[in-house]
Formats: sequence, structure tokens, C-alpha cells
Amino acid sequence: MKKVMAVFGTRPEAIKMCPLVLELKKSDQLETLVCVSGQHREMLQQVLDIFGVVPDYDLAIMKQGQDLTDVTTASLVGMREVLKKEEPDVVLVHGDTSTAFAASLAAFYQQIPVGHVEAGLRTYNLWSPYPEEFNRQGIGLTATYHFAPTETARKALLKEGKNPERIYVTGNTGIDALFHTIREDFHHPEIDWAKGSRLIVLTAHRRENLGDPMREMFRAIRRIIDEFQDVKVLYPIHMNPKVRAIASEVFEDCERIRIIEPLDVVSFHNLMKASYLIMSDSGGIQEEAPALGKPVLVMRDTTERPEGVEAGTLKLTGTGEEAIYQECKRLLTDPEVYRQMSEATNPYGDGKASQRIRKILEETDA
Ligand code: UD1
Ligand code: UDP
Repeated sequence: MKKVMAVFGTRPEAIKMCPLVLELKKSDQLETLVCVSGQHREMLQQVLDIFGVVPDYDLAIMKQGQDLTDVTTASLVGMREVLKKEEPDVVLVHGDTSTAFAASLAAFYQQIPVGHVEAGLRTYNLWSPYPEEFNRQGIGLTATYHFAPTETARKALLKEGKNPERIYVTGNTGIDALFHTIREDFHHPEIDWAKGSRLIVLTAHRRENLGDPMREMFRAIRRIIDEFQDVKVLYPIHMNPKVRAIASEVFEDCERIRIIEPLDVVSFHNLMKASYLIMSDSGGIQEEAPALGKPVLVMRDTTERPEGVEAGTLKLTGTGEEAIYQECKRLLTDPEVYRQMSEATNPYGDGKASQRIRKILEETDA
């Protein structure tokens, strides 16, 4: 039996790896182990609980105020022991976090083949998203299997000279997750709170936006709330204390914004579905929103998800206050612009990415 070890550590990785883990565990040809780094603590546990995934190993590395060196070194050292003990045939990592990069490097050092889930997303700007662009390219160097979510990602990998026989277009496992979470009969107190208003769901956390860019983003939203009396903003805030400090500075004494603790993924996906529009610097949300037919103002300078922009659901605004304010105002006042952006198109797959990856792992040797 082939031994597969899935390694992840943060909320977004967990959301996209848990559906895959559940699928791999159904196989009688694969033995599937899960190792979490614990780069995130509470936000990771929320996802594991929802999917009922219990890790075989937890490196529990999270520290308040951890920097990139802390996360990378603690994961690298921790993974060495786990890999030496278990000697998996394949290590699966997801996306672009420091956990994913360190786990792929640890596997490379033990000469264990790596499978990269969500391979081939690129901006080719090492500073945006930072450090994720580096992490993705680094993982790509170690990987034997490149599970590309889209044709665009496949083309980027081909251009970089990756072996075409090792690139598999599977769709994004984030869409698989939506099949677990979206419910027709969903109720939530925040939906009651927003009744009769246009609900904006807000998230923000990117490392390169901490400081002035994030302050500008929040100021733009503050102006929108002050100007549009029928708008309410729900902000499930990231646990990073640096994010929380800026939010409380800008959103003080503001009744129509609710800042709440991070939502579990079932609640978050269904609240996205109930929203009027989304404002975010997140990566995963850029894939989920097109599938739900919700416009997203992407408050970043670059995106590694051009498919959603081409589909018309995402608009890249940058991080300047004036541009974000103007784009949001346009969406709130021009029904035609809103209609065009809210047409549901889903460039990220059919929700069967996990099944495809399982089949590839069952049928091919690394
Ligand atoms: C990390 C990833 C980023 C991903 C993001 C998703 C890297 C370099 N960054 O960034 O790619 O988009 O996760 O959210 O891998 N914290 C808690 N509890 C938690 C989670 C975070 O208290 O459950 C706090 C801690 O103080 C921690 C801080 O948030 O030190 C930052 O966490 P970290 O994982 O270093 O960075 P993120 O910005 O979350
Ligand atoms: N999400 C969640 N609860 C929240 C906010 C976001 O479950 O309160 C989900 C969201 O649906 C998406 C993922 O978390 O699947 C995105 O994570 P994040 O923005 O932290 O990271 P990124 O995708 O930018 O790496």
C-alpha cells in the first residue's frame, strides 16, 4: 500500500486539503496520514472540527508574533522527525504558505517525492504576494506531481520547463470544499442582523498590506459605510494582532460594521452566499466567490488568480483608499456594473478535484 502524508498548517490550506484527505482515506490502495504544523492554532482547529479530520501529528509551532523564519525553521525541523519515522511514499502540500514550503523542503531533504496541490499560480513578483510567490515557486522546484487547478496554471508550469507528464489539471479542491459547506437552509444571527441592508463581507490579512495599505483599505470602507445608510459590513477578523490594531483604530464608533471572531467555514461560505458583495485581500475567496456569483473587490496590487478577473467576478483595486472607495461606490450605485460582476461563472472546477488527485496517486508511481 502506498503511504501518503498530507501536510498543512493554516486555515486556507486546511479548507482545501480536508476534502482531499477525506477522499484519499476512502482508497484501499492508499494509507493516508495527516501532519499539521499548527502554524495557525484556533483558525486551523475550526476547519479540522468541521471536516472531522484528526491529525496523526501536530507540530504545534504557532507563536504570537511569529515571523517567517520562526514558521519555516520550526516546520522544517519538526517535519524531519515525522518523515524519518513514517517514511511516506509521497508528501502532499498545498499552495503557498511557509508550512507548505518548509514541508516540501523537508521532504526533498529526505528524498521523498512531493505532490503540490494548487500548483502553477504565479504573479512572478516576489514581493506580491509576499512571501507566497516565492513559496509557490520553491515548492514547484521540489515537486514530482503538479496538481494544477486550471489550464492557465498548467501553461505557467510548462513555460517553466516542468515535465508535461507530471502536470495534471484537476480543478481546485476549494470548489470541492463548497460542496461540503453550502446549505440551502442555512441560518445565522448575522444574516438576521443584515436583513433589509446590503451586506458587505470583509476580510483582510495579507502580510504585504499590514500597516498603511491596510489602513487605507479600511478608511475606504469607513467612507462607504458613512455614505450609504443601507450598507452593513460584516468583518470576521483575522487573529493577527497587527490586523486587529488597525481595524480598531479605523472602525471605532461605527455602528453598521460588525467585527466578529473568525467564522467557521460553513458559516463563512454561507454568509458569502448571503452577501451583496465581498471586499478582501484573500486568495481562497477569489476562487469561491465566482462559484457563488458574488462580486469581489480584490484589495491587492496583483493576483495569481487571473481566471476570476477574466470571468468578470473579480476586480483588482489596489490598496489605495480613493480607488477602493470609487470601485465600491460604482458597484453600489450602478446596477449594470453589479449585474455583470455577479453573474455566476466558475473557472475553478467541478468539485471533483480530490477524486482526480486520488486516482492519479493510486495509478501512478512517483
Ligand atoms: C498565513 C500565510 C498566508 C495565508 C494566511 C491565511 C505564510 C507566510 N502566510 O499568514 O499565506 O494567506 O496564513 O490566513 O505562511 N494567529 C492566531 N491564531 C490563529 C492564527 C493566527 O493567534 O489561529 C495570529 C498569531 O499571532 C500569529 C499571527 O496571527 O503569529 C500571524 O499568523 P501567520 O500564520 O504567521 O501569518 P498569516 O498572516 O496568518
Ligand atoms: N474563511 C473562513 N472564515 C472566515 C474568513 C475566511 O472560513 O472568517 C475562509 C474562506 O472561505 C477561504 C479561506 O478562509 O476558504 C481563506 O483564508 P484566508 O483569507 O485566511 O487565506 P488566503 O486564502 O488568503 O491564503
